[in-house]
Amino acid sequence: MFKVVTIIGARPQIIKAAAISRTIRKKFEGKMVELIVHTGQHYDVNMSKVFFDELEIPQPHYNLQVGSASHGKQTALMLEGIEEILLKEKPGCVLVYGDTNSTLAAAIAASKLNIPVAHVEAGLRSFNRSMPEEINRVVCDHLSTMLFSPTRSGFENLIKEGFDKNILPPFNPNRPKIYHCGDVMYDNSLYFSEVAGKNTTILHDLQLAPNGFVLATVHRNQNTDDPARLNSLFLSFNRIATEFAFPFVIPLHPRTQHLLQENLAPEVFESIMSNPLMKIIPPASFLEIITLEQNAKLIMTDSGGVQKESFFFKKPCIVLRSETEWVELVENGNNLLADASEDKIMNAWKLLSAKNDFTYPSFYGDGTAAEFICGKILSHLSR
Ligand code: UD1
Repeated sequence: MFKVVTIIGARPQIIKAAAISRTIRKKFEGKMVELIVHTGQHYDVNMSKVFFDELEIPQPHYNLQVGSASHGKQTALMLEGIEEILLKEKPGCVLVYGDTNSTLAAAIAASKLNIPVAHVEAGLRSFNRSMPEEINRVVCDHLSTMLFSPTRSGFENLIKEGFDKNILPPFNPNRPKIYHCGDVMYDNSLYFSEVAGKNTTILHDLQLAPNGFVLATVHRNQNTDDPARLNSLFLSFNRIATEFAFPFVIPLHPRTQHLLQENLAPEVFESIMSNPLMKIIPPASFLEIITLEQNAKLIMTDSGGVQKESFFFKKPCIVLRSETEWVELVENGNNLLADASEDKIMNAWKLLSAKNDFTYPSFYGDGTAAEFICGKILSHLSR
């Protein structure tokens, strides 16, 4: 039986891993077995455990419990722990997701042990090396044996970086194989959107009407750690909520939660906290966030996953960054880049909230990306 070790650690990876894990259990039973390693990068119940429960992912076989630390220390602790597990388990492949420090540590540990790395969500680039995620992606891609890009633009980025799209088997780190295969996040949205609304009471609890609120999320360090940007974002939210009498739902990542009072000007903090239209809540579970996305009028976010889910659920999205890896959504007019600028956010809000001629091409495949990925790994890496 072909053994795969999946490394996860941060919230978005747990969500992506759900699609592959489900596929291995349902479609590759008896051929492939998966061992899950949780690095412990995210450890709060509502950043980790709640996703395992809701997304039907088996409990991790190992938890390294590294917790929060500087990038170097956090990555080093993971590297040490993952290496030990890989030496013991001797898998045929290590599966990694996205661009977090957990992804980076796993790719380094596995590649140094000559274990093939399969990277799900390969090829995405912001072309901004001040983002820790950009460094993690570039390094991970160049250590991988099988690279699965969710988008055409990601696949083309890999070709520009020297990957050969015509490579033939056998594949290895010197002869890596790149694929354009669709997005496992889309697989998940299709799978869970049916059940989401029925299994959460969040709209009722927050007294929200369909299409009657804005969903906003902020967690990138560029936004949370820079007081000028954080103030500008929350001033914009407060202004739109007040001028247009529109509630904002803001599930706060712990990073933002910790920094809100510290980095917002006292008068901004006060006016947000006292505005009944600003509904600041703890991090939402996956089914809750899906329900909020399905029912929002518009979404504002600096998260990669939420930018795409907006599109999956046919909602316009204002991206609170100066660039994005999901370029097709901006090119197609569904999403607008507004950075952390109050003027740009106001203009984007006016434009997108009035627009009604959006189109939804199938940029992210047909909901079978996970099956494609498992099939390719099994046929090319098992011997
Ligand atoms: C990480 C990823 C980012 C991803 C995000 C999703 C990296 C470099 N970044 O960022 O790409 O979009 O996850 O959520 O890996 N904290 C808690 N409890 C938790 C987790 C975090 O309180 O369960 C707080 C801690 O103060 C910590 C801070 O959040 O220092 C940042 O957490 P960390 O995991 O280092 O990075 P994220 O910002 O979550």
